[in-house]
Amino acid sequence: MFKGARWLSGSAGPLLDLKQKQMAVDEQAVILATLAESVARAGCRLLEVGSWCGDSTMVLGAVAKRHDGHLFCIDWWKGNIGTDLERIAEQRDVFSVFWQRVRESGLEDVVIPMRGKSEDIGGILAPGRFDLIYIDGDHRHESACRDVAGFSPMVRDGGVLCGDDCEGRLADFDPEFLEAGKDRDCVESVHCGVVLAVGQAFHDYSIDYNIWSVQRTGPGWRPLDIEFPGVRRKRQFSPPVIESHAVYNLVRYGRLVYAIPHALGPVDVTEEETRRRPEIVSAASVAALRKKLDKAIAESRDAARAQGGAAPPPGQAGGPAALPIKLGAFLGFNIVRYQGVIYALHRGLGPLDLGRQRVTPETRGVLVAGFVGELLLPIVRFRAGSVRRRVLGIWRQWKASTIRQWLPAGRQANRGRGAFQHEDSTGAVKGPEGVQRRRLRRAVHGDPEGDR
Ligand SMILES: C[S@@+](CC[C@H](N)C(=O)[O-])C[C@H]1O[C@@H](n2cnc3c(N)ncnc32)[C@H](O)[C@@H]1O
Repeated sequence: MFKGARWLSGSAGPLLDLKQKQMAVDEQAVILATLAESVARAGCRLLEVGSWCGDSTMVLGAVAKRHDGHLFCIDWWKGNIGTDLERIAEQRDVFSVFWQRVRESGLEDVVIPMRGKSEDIGGILAPGRFDLIYIDGDHRHESACRDVAGFSPMVRDGGVLCGDDCEGRLADFDPEFLEAGKDRDCVESVHCGVVLAVGQAFHDYSIDYNIWSVQRTGPGWRPLDIEFPGVRRKRQFSPPVIESHAVYNLVRYGRLVYAIPHALGPVDVTEEETRRRPEIVSAASVAALRKKLDKAIAESRDAARAQGGAAPPPGQAGGPAALPIKLGAFLGFNIVRYQGVIYALHRGLGPLDLGRQRVTPETRGVLVAGFVGELLLPIVRFRAGSVRRRVLGIWRQWKASTIRQWLPAGRQANRGRGAFQHEDSTGAVKGPEGVQRRRLRRAVHGDPEGDR
């Protein structure tokens, strides 16, 4: 449970470590606690399949403690096969971390760890013994089906069976996508094995922030209809980023993958309003989306080149992003991507509205390219030119003052700084330094002031 949903700008992939909180959103803790409270009674028995370092154990253990009950925790503490958890468990004694946390939380007499494979331990438990069973073990299809089928008889009448990592119902996904991913822990942030196992086991069930649940009613099951205090009803929490492509974060929600410009920051594609935003592009698969983005970027770049570097108008249909996206800064230039074109804009230009102002490679202080790498050398050259001019200016000033020292006192008074530069009646600087300043201003700003 509780995988971290993180917003990336740059590299993709969750960075899990042992100490990292596994709780994706706080709402999950409220939901789990509320489900447990709804069925807990004095001396209750709760069961958790998959405890890892104890995030969900803390939640369920607190409920069991409040009711003088127990929480049984089944885990082999070797992590999920083929995941980061498995690699971590090879290097660390995860059970010790789990137990230390249990002790520090005062749950030593409440939590009863049962170390081993869930399929081995499940077989020795008696039916109808538990008020709530929470399943968050092996997410692959076969194991998930085995856990659901194996542990459901252990729930008492009126009790709750629930679990984590159910990103939606069968109908929310392309069946081929679920089938292709069912034997892996998680594909593109979807636990296909769990989605399939739950959808196949129950006709109807609740999903709240990826936690699925059903309540036993005699021989059958029904979805729970519980209010979760302080939690807005939502089936799925904002899905984590699966990868970054160009300046987009890619996330999967249901049947589609969405590309969200980094500049938009963390947005929630589970909200319909967000999915309708013009800057957000979607496709049925990551590969199709990458292709679509690359094509849109190339088309937009070609269009910009055909127009002599002018940016297409904002909000252009099919454009990869209507908003300029700042990619970074380099040697006094802001580097911005707009409509698939990369611009280096000298900071001296001040705020620019790329959508309205005509900005071309001919504009002073503006460099245009198809990709960032193309800009670096021209920026360095530009900077080298301006440094050279500045050094030249300093040298000329130094030369002027040194020559002044050599001049006889009378001539110094006469010539003063006017020998090399002076202000005229309008206050404009004349002489070599004035020329220098004007050139610099014109080069950087295209500034009419530079002519003064
Ligand atoms: C996603 S973690 C559980 C996270 C935990 N519920 C929490 O909130 O922190 C899954 C756990 O299932 C355990 N696990 C995976 N396959 C298992 C199996 N066949 N039997 C027992 N435990 C298993 C792993 O060792 C891991 O600790």
